[in-house]
This record gives sequence, structure tokens and C-alpha cells, in this order.
Amino acid sequence: MKDKNHEETIREESADPVSPIAGARSCCGGTSVERSSGDIKGVVKQKYGEAALNVTSHRSCCGEPTSDGRSDPITSNLYGDDEISDLPMEAVTASLGCGNPTALAQLNPGETILDLGSGGGIDVLLSAKRVGPVGMAYGLDMTDEMLALARENQRKAGVKNVEFLKGEIENIPLPDNSVDVIISNCVINLSADKDRVLAEAYRVLRPGGRFAVSDVVVRGDVPAEIRKSVELWIGCVAGALEEFEYAAKLARAGFESIEVEPTRIYKLEDAREFLAAAGIDVEKFGRALDRKFMSAFIRARKPHQQTLPYL
Ligand SMILES: C[S@@+](CC[C@H](N)C(=O)[O-])C[C@H]1O[C@@H](n2cnc3c(N)ncnc32)[C@H](O)[C@@H]1O
Repeated sequence: MKDKNHEETIREESADPVSPIAGARSCCGGTSVERSSGDIKGVVKQKYGEAALNVTSHRSCCGEPTSDGRSDPITSNLYGDDEISDLPMEAVTASLGCGNPTALAQLNPGETILDLGSGGGIDVLLSAKRVGPVGMAYGLDMTDEMLALARENQRKAGVKNVEFLKGEIENIPLPDNSVDVIISNCVINLSADKDRVLAEAYRVLRPGGRFAVSDVVVRGDVPAEIRKSVELWIGCVAGALEEFEYAAKLARAGFESIEVEPTRIYKLEDAREFLAAAGIDVEKFGRALDRKFMSAFIRARKPHQQTLPYL
């Protein structure tokens, strides 16, 4: 279904419209309702605003261990000790990604990096180190509390070649052809208009620029009802893309050299407790969801400009 602004109206899940934080994996979740993409942004802002405030007030929110003491299988242990040892503690505890895009992306000294949905800023700070003082790392986020946390983390880290921008990944506030590498960590799945996000990423990348993001994807068909519950567990408010669909959308946006590489594949056991609590017959549907959801590293490139034939 589309509204007059061509935004998708999709089904997503929330405990109640006022408090989307209650319930699911650490801090999100609830019952099924229909929402427009504007509503989804409101839910996402509220959820991540609260997550940021929990970090600044040293309350736990996301990435909590399960009741049997296991770490969150999605957000935990993404970074090596050598990467995070000199980062502010709040940048590390605010990490809500599902991968480590800066470890997998090629980032060269002097390049300009843009992180879509930069949260507490962990990947921006890591990128800034990689591109060095002549390079620049931008973080883009729409949630005021996350921006405040990220800017405070930048101040504590004493890093100058970083700027956190307020805005939406569907309308990137940067000029055409101005970025060498786009990174992102578990954010594009939150957008109700993924085509628009990919078109914007393409626009701001320089010819030859790289798209290098971590995101949650689905492999193959999963029954709709089960899919919704697993997405709720993962926190994909607007729905994860099927891996071939992701690649097709990137190709339609103009990208080439597209690769989707799984980095963590989720087992039934990872979600069993949550799904059972949500009333899903885990034994009956287990096979349908076991190893179907994964964190993946998605690479693509904007083609180099075509040279015009000599006239
Ligand atoms: C799952 S957290 C990931 C944060 C960060 N990338 C990390 O790895 O810790 C999602 C972040 O994306 C931001 N976000 C979600 N949808 C967005 C949108 N459409 N435009 C801008 N920011 C968005 C949220 O405010 C939140 O800070």
C-alpha cells in the first residue's frame, strides 16, 4: 500500500503507540498494527531516543543477556578489544549494530566516510581513525538524543575529523558525489522506504564510491506471521529484505559489484525464548525460521563515470 507521498505503509509491531520500547529483544516490541512510514520514524526515534538516554544514565537497555545468561546474539561481541580500547565507554555501550562494517570495508587515508544511522557514533569514531586527519567521517542520525550522545563521545575521544549531522537517511543532507564510502550498521532495515535510501546513497557517493553496510537480511521464504515475530525479536521495525531482493534494489539504484556476505546466521535457539513468549509454536515452525535470518555485510560500488565519446 502506498500513500500520496509514495511512502510504503507496512505492517510493523509495537507494544503500544506511545511506548514502543516495552517488550521485545531488550527494549522493543509488541502487537501488530498498521503504520505509515511517518509513524515508523516516530517509533524508531522514540525507541533509540530512550536507548541513548539509558546509556547516558548508565541504565542497561539493549544487548542485555537472555534469562539464561547468554549474550545478545545480534549486538554482542562485534568489535575486537584492540578496536574499542581507546573509545569512550558510552560509545561502546551504545553500540546497537549487527556487524562491524569498518572492519570489513576498505577505508583509505584522506577519504570521506558517511555512516547512515550513526547512533552513539562507534563506527564514525573508528572510521575517523582509519581515514586519518586529512579524511573526514560524517555520522547521520535523526534522533536528537543519539546525536547528543554521539557528539559527547566525539568530545571525549578528542577527534576533530568527525561531524554528526541531523537528518534522515531517506534525505541525506550532503551534496551529490561528495562521499567515498557509505557505511551503516543495522539501520537500513529500519527504513520504510529502502529504495529511497539506496537512491540517496548512490547520489552522494562519488563515481567509484563504495557502499559497505552491515544489515539484517532474510534468506528465502519465511511464513509472514513467523517472519514478523522474528523481525520483532531482531528489532527490524520496518522489515528485513530478502538477500536477493536487497541485491536487486541495489542494482536498480545503479550500483554494480554487489555482494551479500553472511556474517552471523541466527539459529532457532537464539530466538526460542522470545518466540515462545510471543505465543509461537516453536516446535511446529522451528524449521521455517532456523538459519533464515542473518546479519550480512553488503558491498556494492557506484560505477566510475562513463567517459563521453570523443566528438
Ligand atoms: C540500530 S541503531 C544503530 C546505531 C549504530 N549504527 C550502531 O551500530 O550502534 C539505529 C540508529 O539509526 C537511527 N535511524 C533509524 N532510522 C533512521 C532514519 N530513517 N534516518 C536517520 N536515522 C535513523 C536511529 O536513530 C538509531 O540511532
